[in-house]
Amino acid sequence: MRIGLLTSGGDCPGLNAVIRSAVLHGIKSYGDEFVGFRDGWRGLIEADYMELSRHNVRGLSRVGGTILGTSRTHPYNYPGGGPQNMAKQLKRHDIDAVVVLGGEGTLAGAKRLTNAGLPMVGVPKTIDNDLNATDFTFGFDTAISIATDAMDRLRTTGESHHRCMVAEVMGRHAGWIALHSGMAAGAHAVLIPEKRVSMDQVCEWVEQVHSRGRSPLVVVAEGFIPDGAEEALAEKGEEASGRPRLGGIGEWVTAQIEELTGIETRNTTLGHIQRGGNPTGYDRVLATRFGIKALNLVHEQAWGRMVSLRGTDIVEVDLNAALEGLKTVPAERYEEAKVLFGR
Ligand code: F6P
Repeated sequence: MRIGLLTSGGDCPGLNAVIRSAVLHGIKSYGDEFVGFRDGWRGLIEADYMELSRHNVRGLSRVGGTILGTSRTHPYNYPGGGPQNMAKQLKRHDIDAVVVLGGEGTLAGAKRLTNAGLPMVGVPKTIDNDLNATDFTFGFDTAISIATDAMDRLRTTGESHHRCMVAEVMGRHAGWIALHSGMAAGAHAVLIPEKRVSMDQVCEWVEQVHSRGRSPLVVVAEGFIPDGAEEALAEKGEEASGRPRLGGIGEWVTAQIEELTGIETRNTTLGHIQRGGNPTGYDRVLATRFGIKALNLVHEQAWGRMVSLRGTDIVEVDLNAALEGLKTVPAERYEEAKVLFGR
């Protein structure tokens, strides 16, 4: 077969490892040929692609980002998009199937296109780990590792200056990165989109720690909305989805802590550092296993299916399973972490 690969949406450590294993497995086990579409759906729509050989993918499992490039191009709204034109492009370039690597939006596009008759399988991708159909996505472990390391560093400078340190991490709709990195770094408060917490409560935790001569560490996910502060934050604007745009919540929380407690406080927004650099060993293995399974699905002509991690097994699920709402942090997971707040 001649198989196309594309990566769409935000990049994520592990994408290259999926590309590598799919290509190596396909060449070795099935005698396949591969092309990689550049910059997500745009590359497919405009037939802008590169041939992918064994040579092109050598050493890729340890490299972050995506060698194919990525974009947030919409598969239907982009000029020339939609199933008819894409089918024509695939036929014209002798491409038999497409492996689509992406998050919720990308996988929704892939599902719609498969329903219209295009031969596609999906590979879930997000550092946020908020896709419902899989226990974990590659990229998450790398993000946790980067964020934990950053927080360890914030702790030593914070302790030296007797300051409260705030770390803002990614997670617009789900607090998995905040919860796991905060737990790993021993944070004294973790603030996530799923749980409204008042600034009075945050300040109580901060003061408990500070009064014992320690430097409090507060981890806040970018989508956190403090209890009672919805209006003030919503004034910052609305994004397309209608959710409040909360970029800068770390700064806001920092200013509030300083004002309400009088404790000198500093914010660090980790931003895209969490998505950059080389994947951890765990993510390399998960991504490699996803790539192998995706290729098997292509040869089973399992269009509209997606690879997924369940426990320690790589399984297949319907793409619809990935679209059944986001996997947010359950209340009991937050309560579990909360027993260590303040102190
Ligand atoms: O979905 C992954 C994610 O990293 C979110 O946590 C974050 O809000 C967003 O991407 C940032 O996107 P962009 O790279 O477009 O700024």
